[in-house]
Amino acid sequence: MFLSKIVGMGMYLPENVVTNQDLEKLMDTTDAWIVERTGIHQRRFFTEGKDTTASMATEASRMALERAGMRPSQLDAIVFATLSPDYYFPGCAPLVMRDLGISGIAALDIRAQCGGFIYALSVADQYIRTGMYKNVLVACSEIQSNILELSTRGRNMAVIFGDGAASVVLTRHEEQGKGVLSTHLHADGTYAEELYMPHPGSRRKVRLTPEMLEDGSMLPYMNGNAVFKHAVVRFMEVIYEALEAHNFSVQDLDLVIPHQANLRISNYIQQQLGLPDEKIYNNIQWVGNTTAASIPLAMCEAWEKGILKPGMLLCTPAFGSGFVWGSALIRM
Ligand code: UT7
Repeated sequence: MFLSKIVGMGMYLPENVVTNQDLEKLMDTTDAWIVERTGIHQRRFFTEGKDTTASMATEASRMALERAGMRPSQLDAIVFATLSPDYYFPGCAPLVMRDLGISGIAALDIRAQCGGFIYALSVADQYIRTGMYKNVLVACSEIQSNILELSTRGRNMAVIFGDGAASVVLTRHEEQGKGVLSTHLHADGTYAEELYMPHPGSRRKVRLTPEMLEDGSMLPYMNGNAVFKHAVVRFMEVIYEALEAHNFSVQDLDLVIPHQANLRISNYIQQQLGLPDEKIYNNIQWVGNTTAASIPLAMCEAWEKGILKPGMLLCTPAFGSGFVWGSALIRM
């Protein structure tokens, strides 16, 4: 029976660091409010003309491939997760393929917002488990700073989100009990409009009007309280679902890397699971919420710091717009 395992991780953060003090100058907010409510101190914003969602993913992917000791030509498929693609269409996966200097392999984009990495990982894992493909690149990247309203009206979202990219390379192996053990995916469209971007979509004959620009409906909207309340419940559910699928208990976990939605959510998970500090990894403090890229970015960082080590049992729960939520259980 084939299984998949992660053999390389890479990341890219735009060089432009935006601190809470920078945001204080643009809107009615304070460093103290942002740190207390979100845990975030700074995030990165892309540089126009240098970074695109696809180009950042290409950089992260090159790093992941190099660390995997793999050439781009060895890939069989690229699965890309983002809510902020370069173009309305086509998706970013073909662009990354082009930038990596290859062509002809499978390429698809996943639209699962903050659940993007888990969904993309799941698709890649299933391709490998079925024997269809051997080497699959999962690329996650977001440029969100240009859809945030950097003013008091948009402050509840503007202080949270950041830009960044991260990729993982998955390869086929046959050692049972190692690699991606399982993925668990869920969604409930009932709450789709609690965190969404209404325009420019296909519901209206004219996709973008001066009124939409004026009233802010072409900007993302979030009912922060509703998202928060659902998130804390779903995060816990999918962690336990992953553990129960393998008869593991919380004590078996070596590390939890949750989607970096809000440090208060991560702290809640840690407290509910009774995890010591060394068993949960967060980097939202320095990169903000990077949506689809957030889990692989934190994984890559944890690996670079020697915190995420071979043999560890890792759980990566996520929750976000859709609502979608899910988790992966990985024996590194
Ligand atoms: O990753 C995808 C999923 N996303 C999430 O999981 C995010 C979940 N939600 C959250 O993280 C939190 O709900 C927020 C950080 C967005 C907001 O925190 P909160 O503790 O839920 O604050 P709130 O929305 O209840 O707002 C409290 C007050 C309000 O003022 P009043 O009505 O009490 O006078 C807001 O207007 O804080 C005000 N406020 C701000 N004040 C300063 C909202 N945003 C800001 C801000 N700076 N940036």
